[in-house]
Amino acid sequence: MATTINVPITRPAFGPEEASAIVQPLKTGWIVQGPQVAEFERLFTHLSGAAHALATSSCTTALHLALAVLGVGPGDEVVVPAFTYVASANVVEQTGATTIFCDIDRATFNVEPASLESAISARTKAIMPVHLFGLVADMPAVMEIALRHGVAVVEDAACAVGSRLCGQHAGTFGDFGAFSFHARKVVTTGEGGMLTTQVAQHAAKAAVLRSHGGLVSDLERHNKGAFALPDHDDVGFNYRMTDFQGAMGVVQLAKLDALTDARRCLADRYTQELSDLDGVAPPALPAGSEHTYQSYVLRVDPDEAVLQRDPLAIELQRRGVATRQGTHAVHQLGYFRRKYRIDPSDFPVAKDADATSLSLPLFPDMSSEEQAYVIESIRELLS
Ligand SMILES: Cc1ncc(COP(=O)(O)O)c(C=O)c1O
Repeated sequence: MATTINVPITRPAFGPEEASAIVQPLKTGWIVQGPQVAEFERLFTHLSGAAHALATSSCTTALHLALAVLGVGPGDEVVVPAFTYVASANVVEQTGATTIFCDIDRATFNVEPASLESAISARTKAIMPVHLFGLVADMPAVMEIALRHGVAVVEDAACAVGSRLCGQHAGTFGDFGAFSFHARKVVTTGEGGMLTTQVAQHAAKAAVLRSHGGLVSDLERHNKGAFALPDHDDVGFNYRMTDFQGAMGVVQLAKLDALTDARRCLADRYTQELSDLDGVAPPALPAGSEHTYQSYVLRVDPDEAVLQRDPLAIELQRRGVATRQGTHAVHQLGYFRRKYRIDPSDFPVAKDADATSLSLPLFPDMSSEEQAYVIESIRELLS
């Protein structure tokens, strides 16, 4: 291969629309949780079909808010897949509850329903399916288990803006959905999150806890011309989104279909041009799934591929192609390893995914030439 092309793992694509939107709050003076955030929330309910959407400072804070509304605390258990981003388990730890891990499915990287069910105990207050990399988990099975055991469902939909299963949007199956607008997500506001729920009381409680437990928001007080500060009936947090982020979110959501179409085209090409390679398993697409490919993650089979995942990633980096491990097996990370002393043979599929998953560069304005270079590099190294 003669010329080296540097291909990053992602490259956010912004236009003049984002640039003009983010200065609007400077003109109106509403820079925190004002009209732009309200509009972003309204549009998000339309997109997702959720009855309520509350913008937050991140997906992590949205997840934490959901657990706080459910009253999760010391003595409770929350079941989380072992292969996810650490934030899913961190929020459980922050409530003082115990994280109980379960294993994942090798083909989808999402929660494995039988393993999820076996992790449920009399102390389980909630389960947290994760829609990893933009693919909705097996929610019919998860909901059936949740109903049978009477446990709440908090969907970690960080990667799943626009993702659907049988027409239903991620984050709307369970009690709550939590979404991320971090820079590597399908739509981004830099940092940012959204909490969705169908339950009006949950939404009302989350709105209060999002802003220090205040019973009336600043925007409501302003609109009413109220002088007095509201009562604070609960210990809450500052998980508010700024109006700069809200304004950007409004513009980015309008582009969601175009951004997702571009991602799907790129993903289809990777799958077409890489699936004949020995030891490479492209992302699974179960029936009824609308994958958004927030990340395009392959499994590099250590027994069948001529190069294992790590040497392959290092070689690709040498050629200018950035890749990443899909995500990590959280039970193997220092804090969780020390605290829970999990048997190394537990959660074997999560452990395997930690060692074999490989996320390839994929971003909406990736050029055909850039993608051809990535494909050619992988084919050369794995043939
Ligand atoms: C599965 C998962 N959950 C939670 C998060 C946390 O999202 P945020 O960075 O918006 O807090 C991420 C972020 O990458 C994620 O991938």
